Amino acid sequence: MQLDQEPVMSDAAGSPTAVSPTAVSPTAQRKDDHLRLAMEQHNAASRRDYDEVRFVHHALAGGGGVPANLASPAFGWSTPFYVNGMTGGSDQAEAINRNLGIVARETGIPIACGSMGIVLREPETARSFRVLREANPDGFVMANTNANASAADAKHLVEVLEANALQIHINAGQETAMPEGDRDFSAWEANIAAIVDALEVPVIVKEVGQGLSRGTVAQLRDLGVAGVDVAGRGGTDFGAIESARGLGARSYLAGWGQSAVSALVEASPLPGVGALTGGVALLASGGVRHPLDVVRALALGADAVGVAGQFLYVLTSQGPDALVELVQGWLEEVAHLMALLGVHDVAGLRHTDLLLTGAVREHAELRGVDVTGYARRSPFSQV
Ligand code: FNR
Repeated sequence: MQLDQEPVMSDAAGSPTAVSPTAVSPTAQRKDDHLRLAMEQHNAASRRDYDEVRFVHHALAGGGGVPANLASPAFGWSTPFYVNGMTGGSDQAEAINRNLGIVARETGIPIACGSMGIVLREPETARSFRVLREANPDGFVMANTNANASAADAKHLVEVLEANALQIHINAGQETAMPEGDRDFSAWEANIAAIVDALEVPVIVKEVGQGLSRGTVAQLRDLGVAGVDVAGRGGTDFGAIESARGLGARSYLAGWGQSAVSALVEASPLPGVGALTGGVALLASGGVRHPLDVVRALALGADAVGVAGQFLYVLTSQGPDALVELVQGWLEEVAHLMALLGVHDVAGLRHTDLLLTGAVREHAELRGVDVTGYARRSPFSQV
């Protein structure tokens, strides 16, 4: 879907207003480029790996009856999905963060901001992130940094946002696609370990749309992080975004990486992973379009599901009231889908029968995961 107009923002009172970017530094300009191109490239109709995940329908599953418990097993969150890290650092980003904060407050969903590295170099940009906390004083808010940050920097960023947790994004694919990107990722593991040691709030490590492999999830588990977000391919594509910025980026990196679905199939069987068993929280994002994708990810082992591009699209094209309505609708529909599947909570979804087909099955088999187990997990299949 192509936006045929300037992105529309809404002010804190909820009235839509056309806002043009007023970037002041190359980093702020890049953030505005990301917002614009992510929305130009947004296409909720495109096929995703989620389409290769189908529930077996059991017509007498007997769901409903009691209200579904939508709580995530992770971090005490009362909802099974959250707003993933996106922006900050420019005037346009500030307007978006303020509105996202309002949406989070009105709906009770956890929320992350975009990378705060710019705050360390341009301290005056802190307010473009803080608006998110000010709009949502009692909510679960996550700060965000890259893995080049020192423990002291990470601590500072958490304080700036009065954050409940810190997301660290690891984005080697995006950096490689960027002409001005980092080329040295060798300190990341040690930096993450130092940040985990230094911080009092939980540390969540995430990709930005290119997926975490089983091996990476195991490394992060062993580093002691509180959560991992597999943030896979299929939705927002930073390879394509950097390429569209037209600065000589490597367009062949569009589509790099693995989907959230494949990443979950790889990672969820790992020991010590998954909040239901007391392990590292397993979060999933990347390409989530609607409540059925949320439920698919939860059934595949996600403890909660992150949404970025889809929520940003609704916010920038229709305003915060529309996004509040959408989020409330999604919560209701996740409950309805649980009733359809005969379960009452996230734990119950792990016992639904899932057919993994096509590219998802191929990926799983090549990586040594038996997909037939997913197809016969429910009590209705034990006959
Ligand atoms: C992002 N994402 C992101 N992630 C991160 O950790 N730090 C960041 O600064 C950003 N910036 C950013 C900007 C924009 C405009 C978008 C849309 C996304 C990545 C995001 O959190 C998520 O991992 C991916 O976008 C995949 O999810 P969706 O968009 O497919 O739902």
